[in-house]
Amino acid sequence: MTIRLGIIGAGSIGKVHAKAANEAGTTVARIADVDLPKAKELADKYEGCIASDDPKELLFDEDIDAVAVCVPNRWHKELAIAAMRAGKDVLLEKPMGLNKSECEEINAVAAETKRVLQVGMVYRYSAAGTAAKDVIESGGLGTIYHAKAHLFRRRGVPGLGGWFTTKELSGGGPLIDLGVHIIDITSWLIGFPTPKRVSGKVYSHFGSRMKDYVYEDMWAGPPKLEGVCDVEDSAHAMVNFEGGCSLDLQVSWAINMPTPNMESAETIGIFGDKGGLTFSLFGEHVDVATEQYGRNIDTQILLTKTDQFVEQATAFAHCVKTRETPRATGEQGYFVQSIIDAIYESSETDQEVKLN
Ligand SMILES: NC(=O)c1ccc[n+]([C@@H]2O[C@H](COP(=O)([O-])OP(=O)(O)OC[C@H]3O[C@@H](n4cnc5c(N)ncnc54)[C@H](O)[C@@H]3O)[C@@H](O)[C@H]2O)c1
Repeated sequence: MTIRLGIIGAGSIGKVHAKAANEAGTTVARIADVDLPKAKELADKYEGCIASDDPKELLFDEDIDAVAVCVPNRWHKELAIAAMRAGKDVLLEKPMGLNKSECEEINAVAAETKRVLQVGMVYRYSAAGTAAKDVIESGGLGTIYHAKAHLFRRRGVPGLGGWFTTKELSGGGPLIDLGVHIIDITSWLIGFPTPKRVSGKVYSHFGSRMKDYVYEDMWAGPPKLEGVCDVEDSAHAMVNFEGGCSLDLQVSWAINMPTPNMESAETIGIFGDKGGLTFSLFGEHVDVATEQYGRNIDTQILLTKTDQFVEQATAFAHCVKTRETPRATGEQGYFVQSIIDAIYESSETDQEVKLN
């Protein structure tokens, strides 16, 4: 059985999903985008693919099995719920929702409709992420007591002045955009221990001086100087879990950071009583240190390059066919969002936030 996929949102990530699904053997059957020329441009790349400017047409097409929701965060909940109620399985881009109560609503509908709901935590399918998971599951690190998740962009505000930097549409800045990925992958690696206490601080130093922001590189293109930027540009937090494990989180879209430190600024680290590992989300190796003879022995695991979006699309199609639970579930999307919400709350109240 070949899955027939509809994609809602023909922007930057919608294009990536279409290409990945096609490579994974899924039929890209429909594209919907409120901007019809964008929908048409993408649909034209796939034989027989129909474009429309109304997601409802896609949702009520009985020939569509599953939907990838690739729109700005503000519409994730509404479209994911509408898709599941229309009988479609859903691959929902990250962040799952604007806040944890939206995630709860989405999860309730997934449970009620018995639809597959996979959250777009694509780094779980990265070569580095899967190799690190194998090391941890083999027991190579012993008991894990600390993790670090750092992802710094020096001047990488996506579409400054557009929806990414408008809180009402995005839910926040780098914390909800990039932080969601690195909180997710570290939580997955350490086995989703229950979060207990969160202390966080977010900063907004660049939005107020958009006109002198020096553009270096950006997802979603150059700044719109007349636009809105009311979200943070960096976030820093410590999360303490039941059982004693902690997570040090640092994430930015814009920060003054010297170039030589950029490599270590993109690192996930997992530390246990028998060993530790580090890797870059975009790197070609996972570095492992294990204790032997009373000393640290370094091992470097070289990775075979894979396309994590194709891996994700393949896994989604498999779950749609078999009804298996996806690797990245809605409950885990809620878990990540509850940490994000707590970091924003801690920063706003200047207090540690207790969870559970
Ligand atoms: N997994 C990743 O690594 C990754 C990377 C980038 C973006 N994303 C996520 O993907 C989503 C989209 O991001 P993007 O960079 O593609 O944004 P984008 O602005 O490039 O594209 C969004 C598209 O959605 C369309 N759209 C807006 N509202 C709509 C609606 N109600 N119905 C139908 N179409 C609508 C817009 O016209 C636009 O074409 C966001 O949630 C973002 O967080 C994920």
